[in-house]
Amino acid sequence: VIEQVRAREILDSRGRPTLEAEVVLRGGATGWAAVPSGASTGSFEAHELRDGDKARYGGKGTLQAVSNILTVLAPEIVGLDALDQVGLDRRLIAIDGTPNKSRLGANALLGVSLATAHAASAALGLPLFRYLGGPLATVLPVPCFNVVNGGAHADNNVDIQEFMIVPVGAPSFREALRYGAEVFATLRGVLHDQKLGTGIGDEGGFAPDLKSNQEALDLLVQAIEKAGYRPGADIAIALDVAATELYKDGQYHFEQQALSAAEFIAALAKWVDSYPIVSIEDGLAEDDWEGWQQLTERLGGRVQLVGDDLFVTNRSRLQKGIDLGVANAILIKVNQIGTLTETLETIALAGRHRYRSMMSHRSGETEDVTIADLAVATRCGQIKTGSLARSERVAKYNQLLRIEEKLGDSAEYLGQRAF
Ligand code: PGA
Ligand code: ZN
Repeated sequence: VIEQVRAREILDSRGRPTLEAEVVLRGGATGWAAVPSGASTGSFEAHELRDGDKARYGGKGTLQAVSNILTVLAPEIVGLDALDQVGLDRRLIAIDGTPNKSRLGANALLGVSLATAHAASAALGLPLFRYLGGPLATVLPVPCFNVVNGGAHADNNVDIQEFMIVPVGAPSFREALRYGAEVFATLRGVLHDQKLGTGIGDEGGFAPDLKSNQEALDLLVQAIEKAGYRPGADIAIALDVAATELYKDGQYHFEQQALSAAEFIAALAKWVDSYPIVSIEDGLAEDDWEGWQQLTERLGGRVQLVGDDLFVTNRSRLQKGIDLGVANAILIKVNQIGTLTETLETIALAGRHRYRSMMSHRSGETEDVTIADLAVATRCGQIKTGSLARSERVAKYNQLLRIEEKLGDSAEYLGQRAF
């Protein structure tokens, strides 16, 4: 039974305010969660409430959202059963009363929702992945390490937001992490030798200025080989184009050119022909449903096509995609939808229609590692949570090491089979 709810404004990995919540149960079990925040946000995401008071943090303060937790939500949920996560989340949604959680803020709701799940698992003495996933929570996700940052996550000239390496040939999560860290270290040397910048972007990947976007793919292949791995068989490549950011007036603005959807698809297809790419996220913009249909027809049989801004972890957006034959996978970000229950429902809907789910961080993160447990609980098989640098990224990978150790012989790593 929920006895007390606490919340406060804290900072995220970009030094911007976000919030954390604590839920204390009768008997003393406590849960804690902190809320992440995006930069290249989709327009259909649940509403992140910011104070707008320019005198504090340039208007980005979260005091109103914190106050909504303490004065609006807390009095309504004290006394509720923390084990009834669905009932609690429905309650939070009803108290807010808006379709996109704009009254109290999705950040306020999510903090309480996740902290309650942590408190319930603590009360039962279970790790979160086991509490939410039961006995079959045994699949460690394949990590997609974002080792070159561009787009809205870096100040360089690279258009594509994320270039990721994916250790599909590793035998375990622990080994996947080693493969990734070795390639990341090698990539630093490769960049250094070519007099390219080794400073990092928001998600911990290198953010050099490059001659072209394709150069990033060549650098990845070089680093994979130089580290002693086989591109494709051991380590594949995944992209997040974040194409909504490139889309203006019906065209894709890419490398000084304005391309139609068909032309942009052709460019992506060429990359798929030439590089060991297993997954492309947001290859087209969030509103370009017709383009997405063409993209899916052209490449859906060969690579995973992930909808992020397109689906925003939202069941009705995903259902539209399923009906239209658009994409074959969905990115899962808890703060895009705002409660744990809705997140799990979206993953379940995806699974029923053979869409894969990739668990994801945001570009603004905290030390909270909940998504690592969620990835295992849902058996989704894939996670992206940044590079092998910056502890708010690495913390999630480290949590997966702990979970793998706890699972012992029952731990499974799907590798190539996750895609
Ligand atoms: P965001 O980026 O958190 O800035 O939205 C992550 C992504 O686009 O996948
Ligand atoms: Zn994305």
